[in-house]
Amino acid sequence: MKVDIIFRNADIIDGTGGPRRRGDVAITDDRITAVGDLSEMEGGREEDCSGLAVAPGFIDPHVHNDLAVFTHPDMASVVSQGVTTIINGNCGFSLAPLTAPDPLPQPLRMLFGINAPRFGSFGEYCDRLRAEPPAVNAGCLIGHGTLRVNEVADLERPADEGELRAMSRALDKALGQGGIGLSTGPFYAPARASSTHELTEMARVAQRHAKLYVTHMRDEGDRVVEALEETLEIGRTACCGVHISHHKCAGVANFGVSERTLAIINAAMKHQDVGLDTTPWTASSTILNSGRHRQAQRVIVAESEPFPEHAGRDLADVAREWGVNLDEAVERLLPATGIFFIMDEQDVQRILRFEHTMICSDGIAGGTHPHPRVWGTFPRVLGHYARDVGLFSLEEGVRRMTSLTADRFGLKERGRLRVGNFADIVVFDPATIHERATYDTPVRPAEGIVSVYVNGTAVWKDGQVSNSRPGHVLA
Ligand code: CU
Ligand code: ZN
Repeated sequence: MKVDIIFRNADIIDGTGGPRRRGDVAITDDRITAVGDLSEMEGGREEDCSGLAVAPGFIDPHVHNDLAVFTHPDMASVVSQGVTTIINGNCGFSLAPLTAPDPLPQPLRMLFGINAPRFGSFGEYCDRLRAEPPAVNAGCLIGHGTLRVNEVADLERPADEGELRAMSRALDKALGQGGIGLSTGPFYAPARASSTHELTEMARVAQRHAKLYVTHMRDEGDRVVEALEETLEIGRTACCGVHISHHKCAGVANFGVSERTLAIINAAMKHQDVGLDTTPWTASSTILNSGRHRQAQRVIVAESEPFPEHAGRDLADVAREWGVNLDEAVERLLPATGIFFIMDEQDVQRILRFEHTMICSDGIAGGTHPHPRVWGTFPRVLGHYARDVGLFSLEEGVRRMTSLTADRFGLKERGRLRVGNFADIVVFDPATIHERATYDTPVRPAEGIVSVYVNGTAVWKDGQVSNSRPGHVLA
C-alpha cells in the first residue's frame, strides 16, 4: 500500500492525553490513513521523526483573526506555533455580519482597522474565506457586540424589544449559515449596557442551534465572581452551554481569587455545561483605555496611532517624559493598545492546572509590538509550563490544545491522531520546544516546531511558511 507521507519513528502523542508511544503516522490527501508500525508501508515521501513528537495540530479557540485571515493569509504567527485551527469572532466582536457605518466604536476599530470591510451576512464572509482561504482552518463565532453596533440605536442602554428581536433574527440567520457559536463581551463599551436579560435572549438563540455562549465576562477584576455568577445564570436560564474566555483574576486586590472562581466552575459543572480557556501569561492585552492601567503593575504601550514611536515603551516612562499622569498619557496616546501586567503567577498556574482548562492565545496577527502570546503561547505551555515547571505531562498539555477543544466546539474529525481524521499534524521536539517571543522582542517564531501540516499540506517547515493555503472554513 502506498501513501503520500509517512512520519517515521515518532513519539506519537495522539491528543487524548494517553501516554506517547513509538510508531509511524501515514497521511494520504487530506486524511490520516494509518497509525502504528507501518514498516510494510511505503510513503511517497518519508519524514524521519526519531526523537520528535507527532501530535494533532493545535486548536486555538480564542483569536481575533477575522480580518487577518485575509491580510496575513500565511498565518505565520499561528502555524509557527503548531496551530492548525483557529476560532475567530471572540469577545463579542465578529467581522460578520457587520453593516454599521464608520466610525466603528472600539474595540471594533482596534480589531478590524479603520477601513473594516463590510459583510452584510455571515454567509458572504464564509464565501470570501472559501474563495481566499488562509493557511489554517478557521471557524467563527458570531459577536453579540457586533450585532448590537448594527441594530441598537443607543449603545448606552439595554436593547429594547424591537432591537432584541432584530439581533435575535440576525444571530439566528448567522448561526444557520455556519457561525460556530455566539460570543459576548459585556466588558467592552458597546455591550456594557446590555442587561442579563438581553444576553440571555441571545443565549436562547445559540441554544436552539445547539451552540455555545462564549464570553469575555462583564468583569475580570474586583467583580469577577459576580460576573461568573451572571454567566452561569445565563447558561441555566437559556439551557445553553457557556464558555468562559481567557479566564483571569485581574488586579493585585484579586490575586488568589482563582481558588474561588475555579471552585465555583467545578461545582457548576455538575449541574450545567461549562467550559473555559486561558492564556499562559501574567499580562493581558487590549485597548489602552480599558481602565486596566489602574489595576496593572506595569503597562507597555503596544501600539499608538498618533505616537507610533512609543510602541514597546512603558506607559509610566512616556507619562514621566510628558510630565503628565497615567490617565492623561493614555488619553494622548489614543487610539492605542496596551499590555497590562495584572495577574498573579500563582493564579495563572492554578487556572492552567485545572483539568478542564483549554489553551488559547487571544492573539491577533500583525502589529509592530504585539503581546508575545501572538507568537509564543502554545510552545510556552508545552515547553515552560509542562516540561520545565511540570504543571502537567506533555501529553496532557497537548490534550488541552487538541481533543478537549475540538470536542467543546464541535470540530469534527480534528483534534486526535486517528485514522480517517483530517491530517492536521505538528511535528515538534519535546526537548527544545519553547517560545522565543518576549515582552521586549515579541515578533519571533518559537523554537522546536519542526513541521506543520493542515489538511495534509505543509504550511510550516524549516522555520519558514510555505505558500500553501489549505485551510478549510469550519462552518
Ligand atoms: Cu479576545
Ligand atoms: Zn476578551
